Amino acid sequence: MKRIGLLTSGGDCSGMNAAIRAVVRAGLSHNLEVIGFQKGFQGIIDRYYEPLTTKSVSGKMQLGGTFLQSARCLRLHEEQGQRLAADNLIGLGIDGLVVIGGDGSHRGALALQRHGISVIAIPASIDNDIPHTDMSLGVDTALNNIVYAVDCLKDTASSHDRTFVVETMGRNCGYLAVVAGIACGAEYALIPEMKFDIGNICRHLRQRFKEGRDNSIIMVAEGVASAQEIANQIKDQVGFETRIMVLGHYQRGGSPSSFDRLLASRYGVAAVEALVGGEVNQMVGLSCGQIILTDLQTAVEAGRRPIDENVLKLATTLGI
Ligand code: F6P
Repeated sequence: MKRIGLLTSGGDCSGMNAAIRAVVRAGLSHNLEVIGFQKGFQGIIDRYYEPLTTKSVSGKMQLGGTFLQSARCLRLHEEQGQRLAADNLIGLGIDGLVVIGGDGSHRGALALQRHGISVIAIPASIDNDIPHTDMSLGVDTALNNIVYAVDCLKDTASSHDRTFVVETMGRNCGYLAVVAGIACGAEYALIPEMKFDIGNICRHLRQRFKEGRDNSIIMVAEGVASAQEIANQIKDQVGFETRIMVLGHYQRGGSPSSFDRLLASRYGVAAVEALVGGEVNQMVGLSCGQIILTDLQTAVEAGRRPIDENVLKLATTLGI
């Protein structure tokens, strides 16, 4: 193995730069040339790339986003686009490709694997819905962002006896809403994985304010409803002054937490070592604190990762 490729794909997340840095530094330490493709798989199709050196990744660890940029590449959904990408990689003498991204990006990596390219996938998505890993890159930073925002909200909510509905990302996965709900001491976390009764919630909110509580925080995962929809229902039933905060893409940015920097470093090094050791077509992951490899096809075909039962139980026991 002489030359490897690297790209970030799909929705960005914090820690991608740290993962790029780790792949580059580990690759160079194994005497590999590392080629970075710009804007995900599109960079392979358009032959938009640059050789990466330690200088290219210097000072990038602490930056959010991805300096290689990211994109969702529609052409890779088509056989013709996949063939072109694979041919370009072969033409460039790429012996292995590291794909940093979420489930859609991993499906792209699997498509290239089926066209004869050796790939390694690194799970990176704030949604934490990728199976065969306890944590995807970017989740911890997103949680820290949410906790910071909700802590700020609580200050102002308390000053005005207000209820806030806070909308988190996550597509159909409620991980961010429920885990942030636990960490913020929210009253409720409305997630696709658990049924809820808005009537009960409203009765409880009324009771809280009667008891003299000066704020209530309700987390809602975007896969359930919009914050505005939930706020309207509460206002209609209880008549409270209810405000919303849609956290949106703020959750994906910012300097990565130390957890994400370390995870990115471990994933990046494990990806290169797998390629060098001939364990190709794998996804790296974290299981009980250890780095593991899972066959990429198995990981992709496993679908979405469910939220750990223990997390749901914790939330229930805490009355969230
Ligand atoms: O998958 C990551 C994610 O941030 C989801 O949580 C969210 O629904 C989606 O991407 C947003 O996508 P876009 O950046 O295309 O608006």
